[in-house]
Amino acid sequence: MVQLKRNLAPLRDEPFEQQLKSVAAQVEDVLDHILSPPTTRLHEAMRYSVLGGGKRLRAFLVYATSHLYSVPLEIALKTGAALEIVHAYSLVHDDLPAMDDATLRRNKPTCHKAYGEATAVLVGDALIPLAFEMLSSLPLSKAARLVLIKALSKVIGSQGLVAGQMMDLGQEGPKTNVKDLLELQRLKTGLLFSFATEAGAFLGGAPLKDREALKNFGLLFGQMFQMVDDWLDGCAAEKVTGKSAQQDKDKVTFLSLLGPTVLQEQAKKTLEEALEVIAPFSEKADLLKEAGYYAFRCAK
Ligand code: IPE
Ligand code: IPE
Ligand code: MG
Ligand code: MG
Ligand code: MG
Repeated sequence: MVQLKRNLAPLRDEPFEQQLKSVAAQVEDVLDHILSPPTTRLHEAMRYSVLGGGKRLRAFLVYATSHLYSVPLEIALKTGAALEIVHAYSLVHDDLPAMDDATLRRNKPTCHKAYGEATAVLVGDALIPLAFEMLSSLPLSKAARLVLIKALSKVIGSQGLVAGQMMDLGQEGPKTNVKDLLELQRLKTGLLFSFATEAGAFLGGAPLKDREALKNFGLLFGQMFQMVDDWLDGCAAEKVTGKSAQQDKDKVTFLSLLGPTVLQEQAKKTLEEALEVIAPFSEKADLLKEAGYYAFRCAK
């Protein structure tokens, strides 16, 4: 069991967006500190890809679940930051010409547009071990660090995120109906969110029942999030999303299968299911609830 040192900073009575911003700023500090100074082209490109953008929702979810169990703030922020580093790698590679071939990410040229393809591949390669190095350096017991490292390895590996990306690119598995797509999205997006929401419960030594509920919440959150993201891809302007629009127009997505109206209904239904899962936590889980509404609102 992880030793509890001190509580998270008390939550101020602020609107959700403000709380998200303030956690994001703290995560940014951790990331700024952990990334090497930009003295080489590689490190400059790594900093370019990780810092100064992104909603930091995955880190926020680590923070919010950590809050439920009074996990020390430093541990929550560093775990969240490690997750954001892995997420940043996945975006750099996702944008490559061999994958989605995107030119805009977080309101800036994509990494390969700014630094070239070879550097972008290597940025991703370098970010993955950095995330694991961070987890291995957390002030936790060896056993706890190992659990986190193994769990993250599983969700981003060939049975997780990478498998989902293979399916997404049409390189593996069927992709013809909603059931196939739900599996694809569970793998490429949902699992990373489930790691985020389960992490705080694990770090706080929560009962298995709570861990399972929070993991399920993360999976449903991720499903809803990717539905909303598919909607944004086809229906929102670049200046709204800060990333290339219509990137997935030739792919089978929720938008192509369901159309915008049914997609929104489905996303709403998925959000309701997610909120149902955390209902037993009552108002203690308000932050998670707000995060769900926030992600859903992105598609309005
Ligand atoms: C984009 O994720 C990739 C998807 C899984 C859809 P985010 O929308 O969370 O990206 P950032 O971190 O805020 O840029
Ligand atoms: C990407 O999904 C998911 C991962 C990076 C694993 P998308 O391709 O839809 O993400 P965006 O829209 O480019 O951010
Ligand atoms: Mg993609
Ligand atoms: Mg993409
Ligand atoms: Mg997308």
